[in-house]
Amino acid sequence: MKSIPILTKKNIWEIEKRLEKLAQAKYRKTGLPFVILKYAQTLDGKIATLSGDSKWISARSSLCFAHRLRNLSDAILVGVNTILRDDPQLTVRLIKGKNPQRIIVDGQLRISLDCKVLKGKGASSTIIATTSLSERAKVKRIQTRGAKVWLIKKDRAKQICLQDLLEKLGENNIRLLLVEGGSKIITSFLKKRLADHLIVIIAPKIIGEGVTCVNSSTQRRFKNLIFLSSYRVFKSDDDVIVEASLKWC
Ligand SMILES: NC(=O)c1ccc[n+]([C@@H]2O[C@H](COP(=O)([O-])OP(=O)(O)OC[C@H]3O[C@@H](n4cnc5c(N)ncnc54)[C@H](OP(=O)(O)O)[C@@H]3O)[C@@H](O)[C@H]2O)c1
Repeated sequence: MKSIPILTKKNIWEIEKRLEKLAQAKYRKTGLPFVILKYAQTLDGKIATLSGDSKWISARSSLCFAHRLRNLSDAILVGVNTILRDDPQLTVRLIKGKNPQRIIVDGQLRISLDCKVLKGKGASSTIIATTSLSERAKVKRIQTRGAKVWLIKKDRAKQICLQDLLEKLGENNIRLLLVEGGSKIITSFLKKRLADHLIVIIAPKIIGEGVTCVNSSTQRRFKNLIFLSSYRVFKSDDDVIVEASLKWC
C-alpha cells in the first residue's frame, strides 16, 4: 500500500500555486471570490469541545500550514460565535507574510467591542457584515474603532445572505476567501453550495460530545451527499490533511 505523502514545503508551494490559479480563473469568469472552507477536526468529526474549546485540535505544523493559507488569501471569514468564543486575531503570525482582511459574519452585531479584531491599527482591516437587524449606535461604535460595517440583505432564515456578501467581496477585489468556521458558517456555505474547495485537518483525537463541523441538517437524503473531486491527502505530524474540490452537479 502506498504511504501518505508528508506535507513538505514543495507540496505546500504546489497547493498554493494551484489554488491561486483556480481563484484567478473563477474571479475572471464570475467576479466572485474562490471560497476555501478550512477547519481542523478530530477523528470523530468535532471542531470544538462541548464548551466550545478548539485550541488546539491540530499539530503545530498544521497550524503553520493554516497560516500559509491565510497569507495566500485576500480575506478570512468567520462567524460571530467564533469571535465571541475564541477571540482570535485572524492574522499571519507563525510564518512571515501579509495579513488578509478579516470578515466577520454577524447579523445582529453581537460582537464585543473588546475583541481583538477591533483593537489597535489592525481594526481597519476588519469588516463586519451585518443586516438591518443591528443597532445603529453599535454600527457607529464599531466604525469609530476603524473597522468597516457592511449592510447585507437577509436571507429567508433572517441570516446574512452569503451570496450577496460574496458579490460585495468580489466587487472589493477579494479573489480568494478562506472560510475558517465555525460550524454554522461551514454548514451554510455547504448548504448554499457556495464553497469551491475544502481543506480539512484531521487530528488523531476523539472528543465525544462537542461541536460537529457540519451540522446534520445539511443533507437529508443519501442521494444529495456532497462529493469531492481530485482530492489529495497529506500527513502533517500526526494529522492527516485532506484537500479537495467540491463537486456540485
Ligand atoms: N476547529 C476549527 O477549525 C474551528 C474554527 C473556527 C471555529 N471553531 C469553533 O466553532 C465554534 C463556533 O461555531 P458556531 O457554529 O457556534 O458559530 P459560527 O459559525 O462561528 O457563527 C455563527 C453565527 O454567525 C451568524 N450568521 C449570520 N449569518 C449567517 C449565515 N448565513 N450562516 C451561518 N451563520 C450566520 C449567526 O449569528 P446571528 O444570528 O447573531 O447573526 C450565527 O449564529 C467555537 O467553539 C469555535 O471554537 C472551530
